[in-house]
Amino acid sequence: MNCIKEAPLIREIRLLAQNLYRLGWDERNGGNISCIMSEEEAESYFDTSKTIRFIPMEFDAGELAGRYFVVTGTGKYFKNVYDDPENNLGLLRVREDGKGVDLIWGYADGGRPTSELSAHFMTHIERLKADPLHRVVIHTHATNVIAMTFVHDLTEREFTRTLWRMCTECMVVFPDGVAVLPWMLCGTDEIGRVTADKMKEFRLVVWGQHGIFGTGRDIDEAFGLIETVEKAAEIYIKIMTRPILQSITDDQLWQIADAFHVKPREGWLEPR
Ligand code: 13P
Ligand code: ZN
Repeated sequence: MNCIKEAPLIREIRLLAQNLYRLGWDERNGGNISCIMSEEEAESYFDTSKTIRFIPMEFDAGELAGRYFVVTGTGKYFKNVYDDPENNLGLLRVREDGKGVDLIWGYADGGRPTSELSAHFMTHIERLKADPLHRVVIHTHATNVIAMTFVHDLTEREFTRTLWRMCTECMVVFPDGVAVLPWMLCGTDEIGRVTADKMKEFRLVVWGQHGIFGTGRDIDEAFGLIETVEKAAEIYIKIMTRPILQSITDDQLWQIADAFHVKPREGWLEPR
């Protein structure tokens, strides 16, 4: 058996958690990560014939049956993931009936998956339907994104249009825009359901006064989406109380879209 700590996905998640912590977005146990691990990687680094324990779930994850996921533990500090993956992460395999998961490795101190597991799993279900190569869900408390939800209109179109205008690259990175939910109680199946409903059409969902969910085919894509939104939100927070002397116009946003061959979400730019 290969060294578990060095399984490529485990290594990437350790580095991601360290990055998120150092960016100041995942204070204490804030944030959570879940990534699909291929059967091939799971079988070459872990003993998948043994189950440590069964973890039941209230919601139905039948559409993910048999899939392997690496998921951060609830209450675990991102600060500690790099050095101690075995206590802070878990490798889960979804049961055939979708009513729970088998723990294959991790949560060594008796821990459990993140309290946002329903939002993660329901999101994986919807993103896999939209893109069969989807693999990653990251939830983080990106500071300026949270700040922006206090002072900006939460209409998705208006929120996205402001972000697009904050740096030229935004249109290139997320032409599909961001979905925005008002404040809701976290850690519930209900917030999971409404988040996943947005994920049918979006790769990014902002939770008002809480944080953001980003998704992608790999960690670079999901993280890259989030950091680009966070950067734009940071610029917005820096300039929002100052007189604006010039900005990026809709015509210029169309020029970017044309030059980079991306399609802005229908109806979110003024027609040319
Ligand atoms: P967990 O510690 O359960 O992952 O919760 C952290 C969080 O960010 C809740 O939204
Ligand atoms: Zn959170």
